[in-house]
Parts: sequence; structure tokens; C-alpha cells
Amino acid sequence: MSEIDKEIMARLKNKLSEANANLEKNTREVTLVGRSYHVIRPGELYPGVWGWDSAFHAIGLAHQSLNRALEELEVSALGQAKDGRIPSILFYDAQEAQKIYFPAPNIWQAKSKLGLDITGISQPPVFGYALKRALELQVPSKEDEPRIRALFDVAFDYQKFWYEHRDPEGNGLVVTVHPWETGRDNCAEWDQFLDRVRERQSYKDFDFDASLRMDNRRCVDPLHRPTDENYKMFIYLLENLKATNYSIQDTQGQYRDDIPFCMQDIGIISMLQLANDALIELCDEYGSTAQKVQLEAWRDLTTKNVRDVLWNDSDNCYQSRDVHTGQLTQVTNGSYLSFATNIPTATQISKMLNILDDWQENMNVKFNIPSIAPDHKSFESERYWRGPTWTIVNYVVVMGLLNQAKRYDDKAFYDAASSLMAQTLTLIDDDPDFYEYHDPLTGKGCGDKDFGFTSVALLELMAMVNK
Ligand code: DGY
Repeated sequence: MSEIDKEIMARLKNKLSEANANLEKNTREVTLVGRSYHVIRPGELYPGVWGWDSAFHAIGLAHQSLNRALEELEVSALGQAKDGRIPSILFYDAQEAQKIYFPAPNIWQAKSKLGLDITGISQPPVFGYALKRALELQVPSKEDEPRIRALFDVAFDYQKFWYEHRDPEGNGLVVTVHPWETGRDNCAEWDQFLDRVRERQSYKDFDFDASLRMDNRRCVDPLHRPTDENYKMFIYLLENLKATNYSIQDTQGQYRDDIPFCMQDIGIISMLQLANDALIELCDEYGSTAQKVQLEAWRDLTTKNVRDVLWNDSDNCYQSRDVHTGQLTQVTNGSYLSFATNIPTATQISKMLNILDDWQENMNVKFNIPSIAPDHKSFESERYWRGPTWTIVNYVVVMGLLNQAKRYDDKAFYDAASSLMAQTLTLIDDDPDFYEYHDPLTGKGCGDKDFGFTSVALLELMAMVNK
């Protein structure tokens, strides 16, 4: 498949070894709970195991070695908290983190079940999908089975975390309580809902020393990073959650109604649903009947309510929703992650694809999918999640669209997948440094270099081309 010319394809084939080399370069040998492990950090900027990065890294590793892929997931699993959440970051070296990353474990003050330093929040739940995808890429041996079963249980408990600790309305539309948790940190999608937080006296009084930040002073152009104002909010929300030990339920298990930021994020919900589907497929071999029944119930609940509640009829798109007001947000690249699930109907997919065509035809987008609409008043083409396109998001969307093309037997979806794949591969071909994200108007690489996410996107997209 794909509309890419032969020369580019030849170059990209050669680039696969560079993608593998990036994963190797970002690999660290660490000792955790008395054992030595290999694990991948996302890039120079991020000294730890990031939740969704790590799951994608496991997929990348599975192109070479199932053992390394399982090891990556096992390290991520060591970070699992008592409530079942896989954290947004597992810090394998608190001292190093303290020197080069903010906020480090001394600020978070959160521990995994095994007593390791973690954050108090999670990230889009890719873990279950990563396990399934790794097993598609490599056939496991008999000796791998106990490891896979253990990882399956970790993945199941992680799904349970969202449904038992993050579903205040009981409708499968799980909530996020921190922009960092969405993985799309400073997306302009959250701005107006954070304005409400800005009005709180405690926020106005909150003292944040921006010189503590290190992300904008080390290896990345500060113009590509979130602003100090964003960081003040991130830390304010962190401190707020820390005060209740990162739980949004009281001791009786009742949900508190004073969580400042409480969103049903379409990105998180889509990845959760993708993981539900993945684990249902794995269940006969690695899980129990009771787990399968539960996963199917979660999947059906989420499907029904995403369709009923998160579709915006005037914008023709799935969107996130603010729990406090019931208001839907904006079109973002997170909206398109829903393509990887059984949720959208064929008509809905066509409508969402029209938006991407419009951006390309009328708003100078050369490389879809920008992280927010290019005509949004706060669009910034180079600043993290305020405009740039992310190849890893595109990879999930292409994978989803190809499945939708089969599901609905629709050639237009197949063509849209080919076009997005071609744009994404062209971006990577033009970028010698595997940048973290790219300007959707020019293709310029932004953020960190030799990035894990981007390397995995290349490995996976090329595997789809060759299928
Ligand atoms: C960062 O440090 O920028 C991360 O996105 C937070 O998880």
C-alpha cells in the first residue's frame, strides 16, 4: 500500500536500522527491586520510564526480540500502584531525575506497590494493546507463557483501575484529572476549562518558581515546550491531587466533586477501548473466563456511551468532555485515536476525514494530523501539543483506519489511511534526527531528538507498508 515513491521507500528501509539504533541508544540498564533490567527512556529530555512511551517502545522492540519487549513491559509493570494504575513515569534513578528533570520524585512523593518512585497519575493506557501487538510480531515459546500471563494480569488490573477509580458517572467514560495524564499536556483543548481553575483564590495565591523547570533549559528549544503559565497550572494540579494521595474518591469510595480538572478525554478513552479489545483477544489463552466477561462488559459500556455522549454533532467529530459542565471540547489529534476502536460508525469516520481534508485544502496543513485545528486561536505550529503533528498518534490512526476500511469494506478509508501514512513517512524521511514532533505546516522537526516514539512509528508504519 501507500502512495510513496520507490526512492523514498528505499531510503526508509535503510532508516529502519537507525530506528532500532535509537531504541538501543535510549536503553538503560537499571537495577530495580534487586534485579537488573533493560529499559528505554523516551529521549534525552526524559530520564525515566514514561507510561505510554514504554508501551510503544515494547512494540518497537518486538520487531527484534520478544524477550526485550516483554522485559520493557515488565519494568513498566514494576511501577504499577496499589490502585492498579501504571504511572505516567516510573523513575528508575531518583538522583539523576532530581538533577535533570522537574518535577522529580521529591515533588511527586508517590510509590508503586513495590515501593518504587513513581508519579501520582497515569497516561493513555496503551499497555494491553502493546502486549497483544508484541505477540502478533513474534510467536512466543512455551517458556514465555508464565511471563505473558503475569503481564496479562497487570494489564487487566490497569483497565480495572480506570473503571473502578476513574469512572464517577459509571458510564465507562473514564476521567482524567491532570493534563499530563492525557499525554497531550498543553493542548489548547484544555485552556478554557483550566480558566476556571485560574479563578480560584488558591491558584492565584499559589507560588510557582519557574526557575525550577529544566525541560526548557537542557536539550530542547524552549519555544517548543509548554509555557511557565502551563507549568504553574501543572504543579498546582499536582499539589492538589497529592493532598488526597492522588485519589479522587473519599475513604468510602465516593467520588469527590471538587476535582479542579476533570475531563473525559477521548484520547485516553480510545486507548482504553483499544486495550479492552486487545485483552479480549488474548483472554482465551492468557486470562480467565471471568476476566473476559468483565472486559466485554467494560467494552460495551464504553462503546455505547462514547457514541451517545462524546460525538459533537455540530463539529462532526468525537471530542473530550468536561465533567463539571458537560461541555464538549475541540477537534484534536486525540479525536482521531477513536479510529482504532469499534466506536465510530462509517458515517462518523467520513465526517471526521472531511475535517482533515479541509485543514489540508484550506489551512496550509502539509502534514496531518495537527494536535489542534490550525484555525484555533491558540494554534502554535512548533509548541508541543499546541499544533505539532505526532508521528506516533498518526501511526495509531493509520492502523485504525486500515481496520475500519476492512470492517466497513470502504475504499475511501483505505485511501485516507494511505495518504496519512505517506505524509507521516515523508515527515520521517525528511528528518535525519527522528524528532519528537513536527510542525504540520512545514515538516520541521521539534522537541527532543532520536526519539523513541518516532522510531517506533517508523518501524510500525513500514511493517504496514510491507503487508
Ligand atoms: C513532560 O515532562 O513534558 C511530560 O510530558 C510530562 O509527563
